[in-house]
Amino acid sequence: MKVLLIYYSFTGQAALAAERAAQACREAGSEPTLCRVEFADELVRLRRPLSTREVKHWTAAAAKGQTLPVCYDPPAALRSEYDLVLIFSNTWQSSPSVPIRSFLQSADARRVLDGKAFAVLVICRRLWKENVSAVRALGEAAGGQFVAGEGFTHPGNRIGSLVQTVSYLMRDGMPWRHLLGIPLPNYGLSQKAISRVGEFVTGVLANAPCNPPRVAPLEGGHNFRDIGGYPTEDGGSIRRGRVFRSGTMAQLTDEDQRYLASLGIKVICDFRTNRERESRPTRWSQTHTVDLWTRDHEGSVGELIAAVNRPGATAVDMRNRMITAYRDLPYEQADSYREIFKRIATGDLPLVFHCSAGKDRTGIAAALLLWVLKVPREKIIEDYVLTERFFERGCHLVMTDPNSHRFARLDPSIWEPMMRAEREYIESTFETLMSRHGGVEGYLKDVLGVSDEMRAAVRRELVA
Ligand SMILES: Cc1cc2nc3c(=O)[nH]c(=O)nc-3n(C[C@H](O)[C@H](O)[C@H](O)COP(=O)(O)O)c2cc1C
Repeated sequence: MKVLLIYYSFTGQAALAAERAAQACREAGSEPTLCRVEFADELVRLRRPLSTREVKHWTAAAAKGQTLPVCYDPPAALRSEYDLVLIFSNTWQSSPSVPIRSFLQSADARRVLDGKAFAVLVICRRLWKENVSAVRALGEAAGGQFVAGEGFTHPGNRIGSLVQTVSYLMRDGMPWRHLLGIPLPNYGLSQKAISRVGEFVTGVLANAPCNPPRVAPLEGGHNFRDIGGYPTEDGGSIRRGRVFRSGTMAQLTDEDQRYLASLGIKVICDFRTNRERESRPTRWSQTHTVDLWTRDHEGSVGELIAAVNRPGATAVDMRNRMITAYRDLPYEQADSYREIFKRIATGDLPLVFHCSAGKDRTGIAAALLLWVLKVPREKIIEDYVLTERFFERGCHLVMTDPNSHRFARLDPSIWEPMMRAEREYIESTFETLMSRHGGVEGYLKDVLGVSDEMRAAVRRELVA
């Protein structure tokens, strides 16, 4: 599980807690990313010692719910996708500190929290419950799912300006133990509180509802996965649970059907030929109705199968045929691809598009879509190549398919290139669209009739 730990720390206590939480994540086998929030403007950053006037100013700002531009260390931390977000919130007056609120009310928070589980760890002297409630409300407003919250308090009182004294004593990170020979109370989180941070995080990790995994846990499904979660070049992230790609859905078990129904799928676009659909009809839940779109066609799949069966066929020959097929598919499948762009642009979601292996016709559709959404090219290829994970099962499906059962009698090395998801395949599609249309956008416009407005609508539907 990927965990983002986001904190602001003035006297170092939230930083200490976040370090302990990161250790708990590692111990639980999760992957933590620590991210420090700070005011973007150097001039407004709090410096030690803090005067009484400044303390008053900032506590009032926190109480009023003020926000200011913030930045992050490391700056790239928020561009990834996380399964869980841990928010460390200091209490200023009875409110979250200004930097933490500023983050929570930013577009960055919406991007990172949308649909994700989050927990709140309040680090303060008192009033932690109010702070948990405030952060919970802000996190939920940003699209997150609150899972737990707790306060980790340290001793201190309000007499004089404790904050001022503390901030002064803590300068350079070295707490003073005495002032004018008088022993001072220990400042900061106790060892007990720090250990409790570890326990709290371990509990959250054990109980956090896992976001639906990219690859759906289906027994009879094939290569069914969410295309969401990828970062975009302009700092966005593709929404999860909106568009899925898949291979055949002809062997879904009852349990699989229940799982897919729980995803709320409204539309299935089946790219398969008439023959494929007749021999392997989609098994879909009787109780959860969907709009099933198909089209009347027989495509090049048959030609590839015929080529494999021809005497003298070789693996090199088949690989070359695959590269050629990837140049032709954007045209042969244009009607199907047009349909999914149209549906997505009008918000006809959640939608699944699929073929048999969920690799070629589906793989190109996914790549085109991710391209429009501005997902970096390497990530698009990563998503395409993910089909390799289903290679064994794909081979089994081919050998048991009534349309290609003769494969079982052939040397597998001849037809295996058909079952691969090699980056050269999808790259040959990109190269073709580049040379013939000046790029993916040109192809979408010239061949699919997808206008700039439609592309913008697709982005609005799918980018958070
Ligand atoms: C401007 C300011 C105001 C604060 N006001 C309060 C307060 O009203 N109540 C409280 O419990 N702590 C208050 N604190 C202490 C913070 O909660 C403290 O920063 C936290 O306990 C430790 O977090 P840190 O060391 O990571 O900054 C204040 C701190 C600052 C800087």
